[in-house]
Amino acid sequence: MKSKQKQKSYGLSTRAIHVGTSPDPQTGALVPPIYQTSTFVFPTAEEGANRFAGEEGYIYSRLGNPTVKALEQKVANLESAEAGLAFGSGMAAVSAVLLGLLRSGDHVICSRGLYGCTFGLLRDLKERFHIDFTLCDMTQQDDLQKAIQANTKVIYIETPINPTLEVIDLEMVASVAKTNQITTVVDNTFMTPFLQRPLEFGCDLVLHSATKYIGGHGDVVAGIIAGKQEIIDHIRMTTQKDIGGILSPWDAFLLIRGLKTLGLRMERHTQNAFQVARFLEKHPQIESVYYPGLSSSMYYPFVQKQMDGAGGIISFEVKGDTQSGIHFMNQLKLCKIAVSLGDVDTLIQHPSTMTHAIVPEEERLKMGITPGLIRLSVGIEDVEDVIADLEQALSAIE
Ligand SMILES: Cc1ncc(COP(=O)(O)O)c(C=O)c1O
Repeated sequence: MKSKQKQKSYGLSTRAIHVGTSPDPQTGALVPPIYQTSTFVFPTAEEGANRFAGEEGYIYSRLGNPTVKALEQKVANLESAEAGLAFGSGMAAVSAVLLGLLRSGDHVICSRGLYGCTFGLLRDLKERFHIDFTLCDMTQQDDLQKAIQANTKVIYIETPINPTLEVIDLEMVASVAKTNQITTVVDNTFMTPFLQRPLEFGCDLVLHSATKYIGGHGDVVAGIIAGKQEIIDHIRMTTQKDIGGILSPWDAFLLIRGLKTLGLRMERHTQNAFQVARFLEKHPQIESVYYPGLSSSMYYPFVQKQMDGAGGIISFEVKGDTQSGIHFMNQLKLCKIAVSLGDVDTLIQHPSTMTHAIVPEEERLKMGITPGLIRLSVGIEDVEDVIADLEQALSAIE
């Protein structure tokens, strides 16, 4: 386990199963009920007033719900955080965090690559709310230091970056941020707490598109953040409560179920992706492969430093022009052409025309998203079958 802290008493898988949930005391049901309710009855009017004044107890499901709370406790525990907060999508989490931490006139430094809609949101915040941002190549500490301005309030990074798989040194970023009293936010979607726990390296807040690995089965859209109680309470009582991008109890239940097998799934995703990356690396029709788990990757030392595995996402370019890549994708039978990632199914997509189409071409190229780049989210199928499918599609374009 790569961590700056001592391991807690139970391992991650045990905690993913047991923290925050226990058998129903009334019936003994192993799986507690889903609290599918919008509101909560107060025993007296005085008690209702007390809860509104801050006393413990549920009020209304936009302000808190027992099933959603169980999910928040699990993810917070796994991320070594004091508290968690769930949202109706990953973008609801990203927007609540940025709107909660920033005000007009502030500045954000971001990793030079970002999920397309996060980039779209930052552009909107700049144009409409005067919150400026700088995309920064953080492989060099000097570049990060130079990007800091007097009004920089947040450093927002993805590592590995979607979809270029560049890796950023978490400890370096957190220490520069601390010296300058800047809050560090890490989008940990690609890794999950099973492979990387940014708070243990000094970062302040972690966020996930829980739609991806945490859900894992392609049947829920959700987001979650974890960090210090004070920051989480602030976001809960401002941008979440008043903008309202909450998670439904049913979706929280699906994510709680997903978390129970997350450790197993991440192991299999990582093993499969490693074998697929090795296959692609050797294939004569492949121009380049981006996967930090390959020892040939310049980011491999960071996998050893801060990650417990390189995860399930690979990007690559096939030889020839962009059309060769598109033709290759159209030949696939088992691997499905779809955005999203982290599902048990293998999914493939073309970032420059799909997930990152919103980013202007010039910015896209600066991010390293070439027109030929293809992103593959390797599922947990038998890896021989995934490789055979890629092989037949590659031979069709030779
Ligand atoms: C890294 C990353 N962060 C955030 C998001 C947004 O999540 P959602 O689609 O759940 O809103 C995505 C979606 O693809 C993503 O890949």
